[in-house]
Amino acid sequence: MSPQMIVAVAEGGVIGRNGRLPWHVPEDLRHFKRTTMGHVLVMGRRTFEGLPGVLPGRPHVVVSRTLRRAPRNVHLVSSLEAAFEKARELGDPSPFVVGGAAIYRAAYPHVERIVLTRLHMTVEGDTVLPPIPTAFELVETTPLGDRASVEVYVRGRRGLA
Ligand SMILES: NC(=O)c1ccc[n+]([C@@H]2O[C@H](COP(=O)([O-])OP(=O)(O)OC[C@H]3O[C@@H](n4cnc5c(N)ncnc54)[C@H](OP(=O)(O)O)[C@@H]3O)[C@@H](O)[C@H]2O)c1
Repeated sequence: MSPQMIVAVAEGGVIGRNGRLPWHVPEDLRHFKRTTMGHVLVMGRRTFEGLPGVLPGRPHVVVSRTLRRAPRNVHLVSSLEAAFEKARELGDPSPFVVGGAAIYRAAYPHVERIVLTRLHMTVEGDTVLPPIPTAFELVETTPLGDRASVEVYVRGRRGLA
């Protein structure tokens, strides 16, 4: 398995407010769709509840110890390990962990690659990205429109020890 992570962060590491994204950046939504299409999405219960609906073309695996029911194409599991196992059953060895903060924190030891949109904007928020562990190295930076860039991090040699 080579799980990956995708996240968008504003200044100060802000990723969320009141269970939602505190911005509307269409170019990042298009980048998210392009990058994750066809992959399994692994997410925490709060992130799932904040979605406008089930995202097409991508099986959802929701990590929760409390949810009992889910719509079609949404699989419930009670741990991150079980989420990766479910992704494997669904035929995806490189699912995307799509948040939120609690799930990102738990996923760092498992993921090989992080695709991070850095939004060059300051917004109010109540949820921040836990710091990326030093085992990850920045290998690529690409502009995304005029107010964001996409950074790719991979687990470096030191992280393999
Ligand atoms: N900017 C971005 O890229 C981005 C991406 C995703 C989310 N977000 C934002 O982040 C915020 C949500 O983040 P959050 O940290 O509050 O919530 P979250 O990580 O989405 O969900 C937390 C819930 O997931 C379950 N969970 C988490 N870790 C678990 C574990 N190890 N084992 C079993 N269950 C586990 C628990 O559900 P139960 O309570 O049901 O047990 C927990 O309450 C929202 O504002 C959202 O919009 C931003």
